[in-house]
Amino acid sequence: MRKLLKVLDGGTEEIPPIWLMRQAGRYLPEYRETRKKAGGFLDLCYNPELAIEVTLQPIRRFGFDAAILFSDILVIPDAMGRKVEFREGEGPVLEPIDRQGIENLRGDDLLAHLQPVLETVSGLRNELPDETTLIGFCGAPWTVATYMIAGHGTPDQAPARLFALTHPEVFQDLIDRLVDASSHYLIAQLKAGADAVQIFDSWAGILGGDQFERWCVDPVSRIVNAVRNEVPGARIIGFPKGAGSQYYGYRDRTGVNCLGLDWSVPSEQALKLQSEGPVQGMLDPLRLIAGGKALEQGIDDILENLGSGPLIFNLGHGITPQTPIEHVETLMKRVRGG
Ligand code: CP3
Repeated sequence: MRKLLKVLDGGTEEIPPIWLMRQAGRYLPEYRETRKKAGGFLDLCYNPELAIEVTLQPIRRFGFDAAILFSDILVIPDAMGRKVEFREGEGPVLEPIDRQGIENLRGDDLLAHLQPVLETVSGLRNELPDETTLIGFCGAPWTVATYMIAGHGTPDQAPARLFALTHPEVFQDLIDRLVDASSHYLIAQLKAGADAVQIFDSWAGILGGDQFERWCVDPVSRIVNAVRNEVPGARIIGFPKGAGSQYYGYRDRTGVNCLGLDWSVPSEQALKLQSEGPVQGMLDPLRLIAGGKALEQGIDDILENLGSGPLIFNLGHGITPQTPIEHVETLMKRVRGG
């Protein structure tokens, strides 16, 4: 069985499997090259030949234990009929959605629109080395909704938080539609050949109390149930970034197999969470830019604290474009003891 899958099933490996969130991306010259060929960013996501190529690039270069499907969490609003653009240096720009827009969202034929992504998944499973795990993904409904409401990234997602507080029923309708769309999408990825899937809730950490429960925990648990109804035993990684003490109970309440941890989780807490099942993370991506002692110390701390339990070595968030390639090489050597 593939090494990373053994860990997702609760096993411990002497050398933990490793991959990096956003491992395909602008820090790689070969990515920038292919990206130019594709035209727009969404054109790249919907071009199976080029999407397969950029997914494989970091595997060829570094030999990670897992490949993550190259796509974006915002293909879901795109498939639902919203205007989604990626502007150079600006990130994603969407047409901000309102009550009417939510009612008009497309719910049927989403998979027809997403067919090229599913083709990328099946093509990848054929091309990847046998030992490499293929990870599919989607955004969690809350995180996707924050971009749909604001129309762009914001420092604290105040527009979506305010919308959820002032129009909870309308916001619930949006979340419910995203739960359905995301469930079908993940099921289709698993059936097309993904070995496991990750649900990215990058903005979970800004919600607290009843809001965290309602908009982060409940929708993810419904997706997990829907996916396992169709694909029994599906392996699912949940990443409620920044959840702090709300990480406790998240695995149990959502049903995810593995918890993605960010770098702010204290080591005792990480160890406690690992005693309940596999964890993934949690190196600060800035340590990978800094290199030197900062990088070595960060790696060693994680291996020392979590290395004797079920661990998938990863960053605590995505790799950034400024990351020097040599630092990724250093990371691989240090984790693998070479
Ligand atoms: O290698 C991989 O991890 C696979 C591909 C992947 C991308 N986005 C490609 C991408 C994955 C898993 C994502 C997830 C994603 N997308 C998230 C969740 C994880 C996270 O980082 O918090 C979010 C919030 C998005 C939305 C998104 N897409 C933003 C905010 C941005 C702009 C920021 C940036 O890095 O430019 C994107 C664009 C994006 N998605 C790029 C890539 C490689 C860069 C765009 C480019 O190449 O021009």
